[in-house]
Amino acid sequence: MTAMTAPLAAPGHIPVMLAEVLRMLAPRDGATYLDGTFGGGGYARAILAAARCTLWAIDRDPAAIRRGEALQAELRAAEGTCRLHMVEGGFGAMRALLDARGAPALDGVVMDLGLSSFQIDEGARGFSFRHDGPLDMRMGDTGPTAADIVNRADESDLADILYQYGEERLSRRVARAIVAARAQAPIRTTARLAEIIRSVVPGDRSGIDPATRSFQGLRIHVNDELGQIRAGLDQALDMLAPGGRLVVVAFHSLEDRLVKQAMHRAAGRLPGPSRHDPRSIQPPEQAPAYRLLTGRTLRPGDAETHANPRARSARLRAIERLPLADQSDTSHAERRS
Ligand SMILES: C[S@@+](CC[C@H](N)C(=O)[O-])C[C@H]1O[C@@H](n2cnc3c(N)ncnc32)[C@H](O)[C@@H]1O
Repeated sequence: MTAMTAPLAAPGHIPVMLAEVLRMLAPRDGATYLDGTFGGGGYARAILAAARCTLWAIDRDPAAIRRGEALQAELRAAEGTCRLHMVEGGFGAMRALLDARGAPALDGVVMDLGLSSFQIDEGARGFSFRHDGPLDMRMGDTGPTAADIVNRADESDLADILYQYGEERLSRRVARAIVAARAQAPIRTTARLAEIIRSVVPGDRSGIDPATRSFQGLRIHVNDELGQIRAGLDQALDMLAPGGRLVVVAFHSLEDRLVKQAMHRAAGRLPGPSRHDPRSIQPPEQAPAYRLLTGRTLRPGDAETHANPRARSARLRAIERLPLADQSDTSHAERRS
């Protein structure tokens, strides 16, 4: 146990599947970990409390970095030193971000995808139709906002975004309504956009707000979330030291599909090789360098979803880089360690 004995509360965001994340990561003294999605620091606090380890933490949201700096000050006050290193940026560039700072090979990486409650609940961030605010939706503070997309994109591009990333079946109808509305006046707020969507998408028995899928689609597009996840997973797998573990919590099927594909590919578990996807062809003589720790996804228990309804769609997957003795291809692992 360390001087920081118990996870301190991270008000504003309840960490999802924390017990399962810790069980899969199994933090140990002297090891080095990366939290790719610091958010409210719930995982970070728990990892730092579980072992006398070093933790690197990335977030693209400057507000999350400020929370991390507050945690660094707490650690310094409690322990006289700081085992937490904060890095602002996208986890899709984790290799460059960590290499530039001289971080060693990683004994574990956690990624808790999507938004924090801080982001969802702050109307000014423009993520939610439940809180009126400017139509922003950026996790960081660079790049085009959702308002830029909604007011400038071609109708067919808009429809594609809503269909591909929001899985909105009525995407063409929604895109048409947006283009008609913006011809009258620019769409500037979350409430106005939600009103336009609701005017053409009927509610159903699920009780889910008709604007939900379109908002998800825009958010994913604005933040290039799927591109970040693809790049982040590949780099995390590659940066693991032998015996290191990657633990990922996803919240919807588009995210989880990428996690499943990346982990199954690394563990040599892809279904039969496809002529069309060169990545799926495994040289038969090369044994996989990773093993899956979760067969199917782990899901939160009833008690957790009852206490924290935002956890209900969470799915956890984990994978381990095999210790050197179990690997036939050790080139990268040897290079980094
Ligand atoms: C669900 S929250 C993480 C919560 C955290 N596990 C906790 O317990 O407090 C997700 C965080 O990841 C950040 N994030 C999402 N995508 C990111 C990316 N591509 N690069 C860096 N940070 C990202 C968000 O800004 C948000 O703060």
